[in-house]
Amino acid sequence: MAEFSLPQNSKISGKGREFRAPAGAKRVKKLKVYRYDPDTGANPRYDRYELDLDQTGPMVLDALIKIKNEVDPTLTFRRSCREGICGSCSMNMGGRNGLACTTALEDIKGEITITPLPHMDVVKDLVPDLTHAYAQYSSIQPWLKTITPAPSGKERLQSPNDREKLNGLYECILCFCCQTSCPSYWWNSDRFLGPAILLQAYRWLADSRDEMTGERLDQLEDPFRLYRCHTIMNCANVCPKGLNPAKAIAETKKLIAERAA
Ligand code: SF4
Ligand code: SF4
Ligand code: FES
Repeated sequence: MAEFSLPQNSKISGKGREFRAPAGAKRVKKLKVYRYDPDTGANPRYDRYELDLDQTGPMVLDALIKIKNEVDPTLTFRRSCREGICGSCSMNMGGRNGLACTTALEDIKGEITITPLPHMDVVKDLVPDLTHAYAQYSSIQPWLKTITPAPSGKERLQSPNDREKLNGLYECILCFCCQTSCPSYWWNSDRFLGPAILLQAYRWLADSRDEMTGERLDQLEDPFRLYRCHTIMNCANVCPKGLNPAKAIAETKKLIAERAA
């Protein structure tokens, strides 16, 4: 494969590389992007890219794709659906976690600093290591658990009212924007499950068809796994799907209190 070389309108400074906007660009947007490649052994750095907004799609993800395709193919990030459904393009933009595909470039004033989700190990550039978060997800057994056999030849039915109880829960796309804006998770991610996983745990507690509520609550009733949430509400403020993990956590604590009464 041909070695990547810098375009002519770029330079390498002591701190990072700078890529200038094309000559004649009228609406220039500056991006300051976190770069880290563990294979090189080099420290992380910020590279700066200037883009012509008249030649770039409207979203942060459009800018990153343009940079990767036309300016700097070494830039690494995750993305798939481009419409806020897959949850893979989550990152921190202008100091706030969000989805790059639904965050408009023009909604963030001035130069946009783009970093991976906070307080996670980094695989490369904007790609966080989600191994631990997914192990935590697996620990809550996120599937329907039943004891009684399903009605012969039929699915397990649910009333419209019971189905409605899953609204505000099933829409979670596991982007981990909430998880990585939660100060309690920053400091206790080894033992606190965090808002994304606790919302998912409540999704199964709230499901009228699930028959393992007691076991699920036993597993959650722990000073660290559940009770590290101090209702700081960063999770609800940042969720790109408008969900409220703090409320799901409060409902879980209520279920535990009710069964103890
Ligand atoms: S409400 Fe709880 S889970 Fe949400 S950010 Fe605050 S401490 Fe974290
Ligand atoms: S609750 Fe919202 S922010 Fe948290 S993982 Fe789910 S979709 Fe993302
Ligand atoms: S690319 Fe799928 S949510 Fe952004």
